[in-house]
Amino acid sequence: MTVGTEINKPEAINHRPHCRLPVFNKSILEGIGCTPLIRLNNITKELPDGVEIYAKAEWFNPGGSVKDRAALNIIEDAERSGKLTKDKVIIDSTSGNTGIAYALVGAVKGYRVALVMPENVSEERKAIVSFFGSEIIYTDPLLGSDGAIIEVRKRIENEPDKYFYGDQYNNDANWQAHYNNTGVEIWEQTGGNITHFIAGLGTSGTFVGTSRRLKEFNSDVKVFSVEPASDFHGLEGMKHMESSIVPGIYDYYLADSKCSVETEDALEMVKLLASKEGLFVGYSAGAAMKTAMDMARGMEHGLIVTIFPDSGDRYLSTSFMLGK
Ligand SMILES: Cc1ncc(COP(=O)(O)O)c(C=O)c1O
Repeated sequence: MTVGTEINKPEAINHRPHCRLPVFNKSILEGIGCTPLIRLNNITKELPDGVEIYAKAEWFNPGGSVKDRAALNIIEDAERSGKLTKDKVIIDSTSGNTGIAYALVGAVKGYRVALVMPENVSEERKAIVSFFGSEIIYTDPLLGSDGAIIEVRKRIENEPDKYFYGDQYNNDANWQAHYNNTGVEIWEQTGGNITHFIAGLGTSGTFVGTSRRLKEFNSDVKVFSVEPASDFHGLEGMKHMESSIVPGIYDYYLADSKCSVETEDALEMVKLLASKEGLFVGYSAGAAMKTAMDMARGMEHGLIVTIFPDSGDRYLSTSFMLGK
């Protein structure tokens, strides 16, 4: 640029008036939670005017999924109670996202982490966990997440002093993470106007903790759980309760209604969310959104909030994403 040349200054327009600029002085763990709530504006055009759908974008968590919240609270709760000390190895069974979350928190806090998972978990997840420095123990894919749970129990029985068992399926710190954070965030982000909450079931921590808090804020809020329609499904992270070991933290009576989704319908919704909303999300988000849309069609007024647990990046190597 020649000295004295007038530069062509743009008009000052603030495109991001909502922008927060956090600085994390302690560690990346400060970035867990406080995720954006996104209004779905395109695929919802067919819905009645008075009905809105919002999704909590949980892939904004540093480990890329909703499970960061539970893993952090499980580990910090165990630190406070003295169950977790630096000489112990954190162990748990995980379909992948919790493993990544434990691996991330363990890396920052300096714990060894051992993760037991079915061998068919996506390659991306295995790679991420290894980069964080965690050990992976594989179980038979045909036995699903229950096979991994059984393997963890065996190892702990053999060497009880070696491990801290996160036990995400039975640990109250799992649902309490959502009671203390996710539920409050949704209440604040909707200005207390939420009428319906929808979430998929894995350990059930997200659904149970968030629903309990929302119903405390306003007992009129209706809550709906989502499960795969059958036990043989491709919705990673989700559990078909009837055919599974039921998590100890699951509250059977909490849901106003229990919904189920066919795998094909969830996958179709994943495509729609990407092509119409610019949201490349995982399969369980597709299942949650499919349920939200079905519900919204039958309503006249309401503000539905659902959870999008992770992003489609986590499934790039699976046959559906590869178009096979
Ligand atoms: C992709 C995905 N969706 C949904 C869930 C369900 O969350 P929760 O375990 O809180 O029920 C999980 C849990 O691992 C998950 O990985």
